[in-house]
Amino acid sequence: MNFLSRCILGCLGTFCILTTSFAQQNTGRKRESFNDDWKFQLGNAADVTKDANYGLAVIFSKSGKAENTAIATKFNDSAWRNVQLPHDWAVELPFVNKDNENLKDHGYRPVGGLFPQNSIGWYRKKFTVAAADSGKRFSITFDGIFRDAKVWVNGFYLGGNESGYVGFTRDITDYVSFKTPNVIVVRADATQAEGWFYEGAGIYRNVWLSTYDNLSIADDVFVHAVVTGSTANITVEATVQSQGLKPTTCSFYAEVTNSNGKFVGKTHPQQFTIAQSGSQFMKQQLTLSNVDLWSIEQPYLYHIKPIVTVEGKQVDSRDIRFGVRTVEIKADGVFLNGKFIKIKGTNNHQDHAGLGSALPDYLQYYRISLLKQMGSNAYRTSHHAPTPELLDACDSLGMLVLDEQRLLNSSPEYLDQFERLLKRDRNHPSVFLWSIGNEEGYAQTNSFGKRIAQTLLAKQVQLDPTRTSTYAADLANVYTGVNEVIPVRGFNYRQFAVAGYHKDHPTQPIIGTEMGSTLTTRGIYVKDTVTGYLPDEDITAPWWASKAEEWWPLAAKNNYWLGGFVWTGFDYRGEPTPFKWPNINSHFGLMDVCGFPKNLYYYYESWWKDEDVLHVSPHWNWKGKEGQKVNVWVNSNADDVELFLNGKSLGKKAMARNSHLEWDVTYQPGTLKAVATRNGKKISSQVKTTGEPYKIKLSPSKNVLLADGRDAVVVNVSVLDKNGLEVPDAANLIEFSCEGASIIGVGNGDPSSHEADKMDGNWKRNLFSGYCQVIIRAGNTPQKVIIKAASKNLLGAELRY
Ligand code: GAL
Repeated sequence: MNFLSRCILGCLGTFCILTTSFAQQNTGRKRESFNDDWKFQLGNAADVTKDANYGLAVIFSKSGKAENTAIATKFNDSAWRNVQLPHDWAVELPFVNKDNENLKDHGYRPVGGLFPQNSIGWYRKKFTVAAADSGKRFSITFDGIFRDAKVWVNGFYLGGNESGYVGFTRDITDYVSFKTPNVIVVRADATQAEGWFYEGAGIYRNVWLSTYDNLSIADDVFVHAVVTGSTANITVEATVQSQGLKPTTCSFYAEVTNSNGKFVGKTHPQQFTIAQSGSQFMKQQLTLSNVDLWSIEQPYLYHIKPIVTVEGKQVDSRDIRFGVRTVEIKADGVFLNGKFIKIKGTNNHQDHAGLGSALPDYLQYYRISLLKQMGSNAYRTSHHAPTPELLDACDSLGMLVLDEQRLLNSSPEYLDQFERLLKRDRNHPSVFLWSIGNEEGYAQTNSFGKRIAQTLLAKQVQLDPTRTSTYAADLANVYTGVNEVIPVRGFNYRQFAVAGYHKDHPTQPIIGTEMGSTLTTRGIYVKDTVTGYLPDEDITAPWWASKAEEWWPLAAKNNYWLGGFVWTGFDYRGEPTPFKWPNINSHFGLMDVCGFPKNLYYYYESWWKDEDVLHVSPHWNWKGKEGQKVNVWVNSNADDVELFLNGKSLGKKAMARNSHLEWDVTYQPGTLKAVATRNGKKISSQVKTTGEPYKIKLSPSKNVLLADGRDAVVVNVSVLDKNGLEVPDAANLIEFSCEGASIIGVGNGDPSSHEADKMDGNWKRNLFSGYCQVIIRAGNTPQKVIIKAASKNLLGAELRY
């Protein structure tokens, strides 16, 4: 788990945050991955006999009673499948075409009320605990289960967790056996959806087993700082708790190390006696001089280690990574470490090609890196708590996060979900703002919404006074309800109303929580309502949304816009707007579900990055269209661009800021080249007519794979012609095999493909618009890894690790 923090200073009508932030690994205590060696079986929501007798056998009449169910320790699960977590059973199911809104929104995977046979998942895992650890405490942390999970250890019920997004921890100490293998059982019920987008099903995030002392530091450590010049005054807040049987005298302090592991400061140890079953809240401070600040460009991270000792011996500690930074959110901008930044953000859901919602941690780094390369500096976790590793990636790589609560609801269940989200994520330097909800049409403009918002905001200020909150409203110039009380006004679309709203409420900062939303299909240039494809240029947007060039120029030039988040960075499963079947995933992404860029990616890259960008589209393979006009788009941040077809100039045009250029070009095969001038420097880019596919090219995302059973590599696949040119419209079927590691998913970004993401051996995928992707997970032992790709009539390719 990771923690972070920061500190707030109130500034005249503005919200001003001065910060430190921390993300954590545990030392002193043991925290082990609990992802391996699970067994899995589908249950049934409509037939108790197919649901491990759940609902038939009376199990809640006596503590530990579990006979005649899969919950029983002795239950024979040898016929169940072996799975390694994270695991998403929804992505394994075949697509089903049924005219149903819920099914469409969730990507036509047959989970939910209409499919009781696919909506319950049972998991079992046997584990041993060393007798040497007798006397210790043990807990299990689930980072996320979709959803409505119930958990048992050795037949004893540990309680449930409704949320499909907020994780939970259960103390299992009382139920652990040191002599015989222990059995943990989870029943997940995905019948009820929480969203209107693909959500996955099962234990789709990491699980951890922690071993620690009866005297321990509770999970909710909070670290924050006030920065003055090059000095940071750091405050650490922690609860020391005793579950021992007698009062204990102990000491508490915290140590800080820099990114090289060098000691840079510590708090003064404080001694106190803690009663049996007692707890002691600690608040200590230390000063760091010549502090290295965390920023988007240089995400410098420190570690802080709160420690509790008894008679000089360390009994518990936490290791929390943090970054020192200041964030001020004012009506005229976000200031990070005092420097103005425009929010250049994307919204994202959590699924990826081939994997559904169950991503190895590496994929979080992969996806955040792709967004960073585009020039994006912020990520909205629409519309729920992210996995902790996403925040780790954002801390490490320098990406701000707008962290969102699933529902605008102040009932005990949702207030508790919000509380857990705040406590879990408040130490991450990347988190710069909370969101208390999204488009709550039943509440946002009335007194219910206003009161719920006030309750959630009070909770946020209580648990994290170092930040503030927004709410994503699909409202134009409307102030009643949530907007009356929300510190930062969020606009979902309706960019035309922002100027008027600002005029009426000049001191309320405004952020575009959802903006843009051009619908595009990568590499496709005509609308096709049969296949459900849309042209890959900034042309088509739904009625409620806008094209990129309709919102970004407004946000770019007016500082009463803090900036905005495009809907979305990546395509995601579900919401195939404006189509339905055969479309199974959205078209909103600047990249497809694999992370292959669409042309719009280069529009944002041009205006979000201060580096030369020059991109020509479409590709230049238009056999049969000789003599016909082809509409050419150039995305660039150059001052002017001249286009040449086979060496002949088609004219030079000045590039307006935050815009693009177009030419209608009479097609003839050859080379279409753009030559541009940027700040007096010449740059060029071209597309070329290619020959037929000749050989496969594999492009791995990295060259080293850790043999830890968890690491992963993303391998992008394309084909080359005889001259080594990538063939952009290739559609070959590629077959994959792998020795020494496991293939865990394939994809190609085609929003209407019904090919399987997962398969039992014989892995294959068609290229779509020239690309597909295969994702490999490392094995547990160091060994040679060979990944092979083959296709009929093509030269194959292989990678070796
Ligand atoms: C918004 C909503 C998003 C997504 C999007 C599609 O209204 O907040 O979750 O549904 O529309 O356009």
